[in-house]
Amino acid sequence: MSELAQIQIAALKAVEEASSPEALDLVRVRYLGKKGDLTSLLKGLGQLLATERPAAGAEINVVKDAVQEAISLRKQQLEQAEMDARLSAQSIDVSLPGRAAEIGGLHPVTIVLRRIEAFFRGVGYEVVEGPEIEDDYHNFEALNLPAHHPARAMHDTFYFNPNILLRTHTSPVQVRVMEERKPPFRIICPGRVYRVDQPDPSHLPMFHQVEGLLIDRASSFADLKGTIVEFLRVFFEREDLQVRFRPSYFPFTEPSAEVDVQCVHCSGPGSGCRVCSSTGWLEVMGSGMVHPRVLEASNIDPEEFTGFAFGMGPDRLAMLRYGVDDLRHYLDNDLRFLRQFH
Ligand code: PHE
Repeated sequence: MSELAQIQIAALKAVEEASSPEALDLVRVRYLGKKGDLTSLLKGLGQLLATERPAAGAEINVVKDAVQEAISLRKQQLEQAEMDARLSAQSIDVSLPGRAAEIGGLHPVTIVLRRIEAFFRGVGYEVVEGPEIEDDYHNFEALNLPAHHPARAMHDTFYFNPNILLRTHTSPVQVRVMEERKPPFRIICPGRVYRVDQPDPSHLPMFHQVEGLLIDRASSFADLKGTIVEFLRVFFEREDLQVRFRPSYFPFTEPSAEVDVQCVHCSGPGSGCRVCSSTGWLEVMGSGMVHPRVLEASNIDPEEFTGFAFGMGPDRLAMLRYGVDDLRHYLDNDLRFLRQFH
């Protein structure tokens, strides 16, 4: 019976010291399990005299109940402590400021395209799109660029087969509109164009153009000049921006002119200006009066209608407006670059 007292002291101490439900369970097995210390004592009752057995059994059971109860109590304490710990770890401080959502921005080329569209919509032009996969007829032939025309060499073309290609400019959209509609109309056609080019600071194999076309009964070169000068002054936000028209050649316009603006960096023939190579001028567009043969090819009578067309590169306009020095930045998706346009 002194053994029983020792077991009780040890068991209650072990229960008290158990620091987790798992440890507590090991204590339970050790004293109350099938081979546990108290269970063994009960099994040993058989060796006692029959007269001693009931009293000894009762004593052991008292201890057993006491240990059992201590375990239950300890179990509750441990579970409560575990719950408290979990609750305080998972608690949410509702007074903390929320995580801010980052707001994205528009790509610089998109911003420029929208500015161009906004200006021309404002003066009565409609925005029209056309396919990027074109046929030879619309990209070249109908624009007075028959097979073997030397000007084709300027368009390093991606061909799918001898007849199907990636459009090299947005001018084929003009042709599609002229085929479908009766003049007068005025349209601009923004979109992607493709030319075989190794990417470098000023070339990409995919870039953008915005084509403009106006066909009416009495459109003149003066209208073309007025429209373009006004657009460029609005676009660059400079009322006195100098613009010059330089005689040039495009097979689909006659006469043709390339359009230069005063250098937006040095504002004049600044010596050592990297942007205009010290010339004071920047080329921004091609333009001209629509060639009578182009009108005829799309069944518009050149005796009744005349028109003008222009084509500009928004990638380059965005470079000039924002001081971007390498076209490849547009495609890198570097957030340090893109964030500057928010
Ligand atoms: N399509 C011409 C080019 O890509 C640009 C242009 C358009 C020129 C309209 C004149 C008129 O070079």
